[in-house]
Amino acid sequence: MKAAFIEKFGGPEMIRFGERPDPVAGPGEIVADVHAASINAADWKVRLGHYSGRTSFPLILGRDFSGIVSAAGDGVHDIKPGDAVFGVCDVGHEGAYAERIAIKSEIIARKPDGISHIDAAALALTGLTALVTIEDTLKLQPGETILIQGGAGGVASVAIQLAKHLSAHVITTASLSNHDYLRDLGADEIINYKTRDFTEAVSGCDAVFDAVGGDVAQRSFTVLRPGGRAAFIASGPKPPAPPRGDVVSLRPNVRRDRPHLERILHLIEAGAVRQPEITLFPLSRAADAHAISESRHLRGKLVFKIR
Ligand SMILES: NC(=O)c1ccc[n+]([C@@H]2O[C@H](COP(=O)([O-])OP(=O)(O)OC[C@H]3O[C@@H](n4cnc5c(N)ncnc54)[C@H](OP(=O)(O)O)[C@@H]3O)[C@@H](O)[C@H]2O)c1
Repeated sequence: MKAAFIEKFGGPEMIRFGERPDPVAGPGEIVADVHAASINAADWKVRLGHYSGRTSFPLILGRDFSGIVSAAGDGVHDIKPGDAVFGVCDVGHEGAYAERIAIKSEIIARKPDGISHIDAAALALTGLTALVTIEDTLKLQPGETILIQGGAGGVASVAIQLAKHLSAHVITTASLSNHDYLRDLGADEIINYKTRDFTEAVSGCDAVFDAVGGDVAQRSFTVLRPGGRAAFIASGPKPPAPPRGDVVSLRPNVRRDRPHLERILHLIEAGAVRQPEITLFPLSRAADAHAISESRHLRGKLVFKIR
């Protein structure tokens, strides 16, 4: 049997649709028939060589998926063929833009029937990143004020809802066309960053979550109160150095594990978090999906519907 996949490097036009032998479930692994896989900004960064020291060829892109288990390897006792599962590839691994994937069973979770494969794929890496940043890294407290930069992106769409669920006051930045979307997710204040400098609009924040990077990240320290903390997911592996000594700069460590995926499910089932806005693509249009993601003005998530 052969499974279709998408691989390649270079510009979006260089992405290739191909076939490979079916993956095999090694010890501690399962193989899943992928029903949906999401596109993450990391995918085009990998394609452009940003992580070139850590990649080897041939390479199949894609970090998160939802699907049905078709085989379980030695030592896998808690997940069996026929189970619906979702998850994120282990750190340093890719391979979700495919019809089948092999992955360690301990880092995936069972998908309840009430959540579609598409929604589960859209919420896997975005949900993990939002949870690890807001709860584990910033340790956001009820009543605190947080500025979430880049509110309309996939991770921030989840982070806004999570911060509201924790009873924080949420300020976010976005262009005007995304304000209704963000109000609907629960944001208390929305700054149109194209017409207003956020450093003039906001001050005294307890926390900042930056999902934009670059100059936006660096200038975000300005809005913190003394003792405030900022977390950065779009500034590379290390947090930017703060220009002042009375605040903390943090880089969330987004590890993959089942408890965090189950916490996402709990939040969905409690009605606290829903999926970001989703645009669907077939796997064969990966190049188009990458071009949209790379524009950095996507609202919500792009998801491949594979089955
Ligand atoms: N494990 C990790 O560390 C991890 C995991 C996931 C993602 N990430 C990184 O986090 C970043 C965000 O990823 P994502 O997929 O959630 O979103 P994304 O697709 O990269 O973000 C797109 C959004 O950014 C907004 N945006 C662009 N420039 C902005 C600006 N100057 N100010 C405010 N908003 C701006 C756009 O809104 P407008 O159209 O309104 O401008 C758009 O909705 C990426 O760099 C990604 O690589 C890291």
